Amino acid sequence: MSAVQISPSILSADFSRLADEVNAVPSADWIHVDVMDNHFVPNLTLGLPVVESLVKTSPRPLDCHLMIADPDRWAPGYAEAGAGSVTFHVEAAHAPIRLARAIRSAGARAGMALKPATPVEPYEDLLPELDMLLLMTVEPGFGGQKFLDVVLPKIRRARTMIERHGGSVWLQIDGGVAADTIERCAEAGADVFVAGSAVYGAEDPDRAIQALRAQAEA
Ligand code: DX5
Ligand code: ZN
Repeated sequence: MSAVQISPSILSADFSRLADEVNAVPSADWIHVDVMDNHFVPNLTLGLPVVESLVKTSPRPLDCHLMIADPDRWAPGYAEAGAGSVTFHVEAAHAPIRLARAIRSAGARAGMALKPATPVEPYEDLLPELDMLLLMTVEPGFGGQKFLDVVLPKIRRARTMIERHGGSVWLQIDGGVAADTIERCAEAGADVFVAGSAVYGAEDPDRAIQALRAQAEA
């Protein structure tokens, strides 16, 4: 399993000061950018123009989580814009293998996300096409929701699947990750942790990242 990585979500940051907010977390491994289109999820955030600007100012690579319909059309553009990682939802993708290949050939790591009720088993054969599997631990759409414990067994099963395929695919968890939940996710086999409200809602966001990392490594 790879080392613990923390990807703070700017969904809980101050959108009027995004450059300052991404520069306030030097301990982050990635900057998680939640793209929502009000179709795939009932919320609207930001899109490609903001990502194109953030790429230039962020001290860490962007980890773009696309909660959008028709990612086949849009996701490669985020890779071309310079995002380090681009994750699409399998529930929205028309041709996930072709899409993962397009993201990789545009120069980014390819991630595939599953909503809490989407089973992971049907996708085992896709693992060689992916750099990261994202298991949502809340229904996508909003920050600050309660962690869904019911996903923990799926995290364990996904870890077993990944190990069967050589262990190189990262296993990311997103939703309700905080001091009281991160250890259980790490124990279940996750290695990349998205945290929005637990980081940007804290008085000192960078200290919050350091504390989360220490807990996940414990
Ligand atoms: C939710 C987003 C998350 C969100 C997590 O749909 O994908 O990345 O920012 O926020 P917290 O950590 O507050 O649950
Ligand atoms: Zn996210």
